[in-house]
Amino acid sequence: MTLRRFFVGGNWKMNGSRESLGDLMKTLNSSGLDQNTEVVCGAPSLYLDFARSSLDPRIGVAAQNCYKVAKGAFTGEISPAMIQDCGVDWVILGHSERRHVFGESDELIGQKVAHALESELSVVACIGETLEEREAGTTEEVVYSQTQVIADNVKDWGKVVLAYEPVWAIGTGKTASPEQAQEVHEKLRAWLRANVADDVADSVRIIYGGSVTAANCRELASQDDVDGFLVGGASLKPEFVDIINARA
Ligand code: 13P
Repeated sequence: MTLRRFFVGGNWKMNGSRESLGDLMKTLNSSGLDQNTEVVCGAPSLYLDFARSSLDPRIGVAAQNCYKVAKGAFTGEISPAMIQDCGVDWVILGHSERRHVFGESDELIGQKVAHALESELSVVACIGETLEEREAGTTEEVVYSQTQVIADNVKDWGKVVLAYEPVWAIGTGKTASPEQAQEVHEKLRAWLRANVADDVADSVRIIYGGSVTAANCRELASQDDVDGFLVGGASLKPEFVDIINARA
């Protein structure tokens, strides 16, 4: 347990402006954040520089996506090298909106994970089943196969956080119950033990995402295998501070 520092990521998605994000970052900088929590804010790519220069250095910044190669003729894409050039250390990959709105395949996500890690970025790698998959009883099969593709592309698990985000809970106000989250996290950890290594299973943070709020974060955070959160909507509000402090 103590091996795994609590991790709270904010995923701002395609929201905010210089003004509103600037205000939010001032609030984060001046709030008492639990020193035991690692905090990382996922900014839109245009605002990565702004986020890095505005946030207290103790708060990390993440890009929300990147491409699988360092440079070239890929109009509209950004590379891990560019992310690093902005002083940003993290990237979120495999988010369900990338998978489902933009049609990213497991294969592409795996390639992005490999290249981001080779470029020395740290990665929040997202997985999660849809409502149809949960109702069909295939949650485990889906999250294991998504995790397998990620695992095939990871050499250094010290730079990876695994985010379980059931698609049916994202932006819907329907949070997974603490028991539902714990069940999947525990199974994922067992999967890592069986398919990767004991030390990886013990040390990798498995965080939960999907309608996390100040009201539900403490109970979720009390589960043994819930090592933090990836927060969408609530990360744009002052209540993000309460979520960061869920274990305080
Ligand atoms: P919400 O917290 O808005 O449900 O979004 C979760 C999410 O997608 C975080 O990456």
